[in-house]
Amino acid sequence: MAADALEAMNPLRRFEIPGRVAAFTGAGVLPALRVESDHSVAEIYQHGACVTSFRRHGEEPLLFLSRSSRFDSESPIRGGVPIVFPWFGARGSLPQHGYARTTPWEVVAVTLVDDGAVAVELALPRLGGSLVTLEVTVGASLKLALRVENSSIDQQLTFESCLHPYFHVGAIERVTIRGLEETGYHDCMVDQEFARSGEPIRIACETDRIYLRHDGDVVIEDEDLGRRIRVRATGAQSTVVWNPWTEKSRVMQDFGNDDYRTMVCVESGNIGEKAVTLRPGKSAVLEVEYLTEAL
Ligand code: BG6
Repeated sequence: MAADALEAMNPLRRFEIPGRVAAFTGAGVLPALRVESDHSVAEIYQHGACVTSFRRHGEEPLLFLSRSSRFDSESPIRGGVPIVFPWFGARGSLPQHGYARTTPWEVVAVTLVDDGAVAVELALPRLGGSLVTLEVTVGASLKLALRVENSSIDQQLTFESCLHPYFHVGAIERVTIRGLEETGYHDCMVDQEFARSGEPIRIACETDRIYLRHDGDVVIEDEDLGRRIRVRATGAQSTVVWNPWTEKSRVMQDFGNDDYRTMVCVESGNIGEKAVTLRPGKSAVLEVEYLTEAL
């Protein structure tokens, strides 16, 4: 189909705001929005409600997106900020990290915010007894708020959730992650618990750590890009740090062999014993803000 005919059919066109929000047909013919605030530009796919890019004017991109990513209705996007819900990790024969990242969300509203930011609200189509929305605020920082409401009248709702950003870094060997020194963690590579390390994290091998009980900012110091990325989360009790390093990168079909060098994931959520339980009618919000500052 001709490109302009495809654009005319894009279901997101009704959310357009001239000069601020434009609908476009993204990779894999998936509908997406391009958002321009006073401070930054971003792209948000309806598939998985995935923010695939965010860049403050005059800065390097905040997020990594693999050139090898699949963009189809079955697969999560490999990069940006996939949403892990309603479970984290493997769950028998069910999809790893839940179904939110492979479901097309509905765009519900687009709002211009006073400080020159633009907010986009998306909703996960109803499945069972939960009402799930994501508000993405594109401004001087990138903010995401995942709200889960138990819409059942008589059942409790228990879920895990995690916002899983792939941050773009200059060179992983010259990245230092601070803020987790005093927290014990589960090392998924050896399936073992470790006490506080007392040291900032330098990544030099495959790294997959779950800090089940952590709050407070995490800072990614990037010597090559001369910047800090600050991960500020509220309503999150767990943090995950992941980099697949060399061998796993070669095995992952939707990830380039060298992609591990320019990304790191610092994820915020509620995992394992920190899963959230909501009584009927109650809701919980997991919010993150990703800020950048010069080193
Ligand atoms: C992280 C997990 O959150 O996501 C890792 O801790 C996992 O174990 C990684 O490998 C990527 O998962 P997926 O399903 O996107 O390949």
